[in-house]
Amino acid sequence: MKKIILGLTLISTMMLAADGAASFAKCAGCHGQNAEKKALGKSKIIKDMSKADIIAALHGYQNGTYGGPMKGLMKGQVAGLDDAGIEAIATYITTKK
Ligand code: HEC
Repeated sequence: MKKIILGLTLISTMMLAADGAASFAKCAGCHGQNAEKKALGKSKIIKDMSKADIIAALHGYQNGTYGGPMKGLMKGQVAGLDDAGIEAIATYITTKK
């Protein structure tokens, strides 16, 4: 079963090999390959968030209006993203469900 899931994940990752996938690669270390983990045991499970909530959160980290005790860490993660990049990542995360 695990192998089947892994295989499907690989296939869907290849099919979605757009910008979102490439950008999400650096997020996976903390949030999990499928956005299924609590990053560093602190964050929400981001694949359970709506696309709009993810976009709002990432913008909020950029301008300092969103986040918990570790928002400084996330600010660094999203610093280089423009609106299109954030949209692409949010689409990627929410279509992984
Ligand atoms: C070094 C580990 C790390 C990396 C890499 C990382 N994050 Fe996070 N992320 C966190 C932590 C910790 C939090 C909770 C921060 C806080 O206190 O608000 C978080 C929070 C979030 C949230 C909001 C969830 C919530 O709890 O409200 C989103 C969305 C998110 N990250 C997306 C991303 C994306 C997209 C990337 C890649 C561009 C990324 N993260 C890279 C550790 C990481």
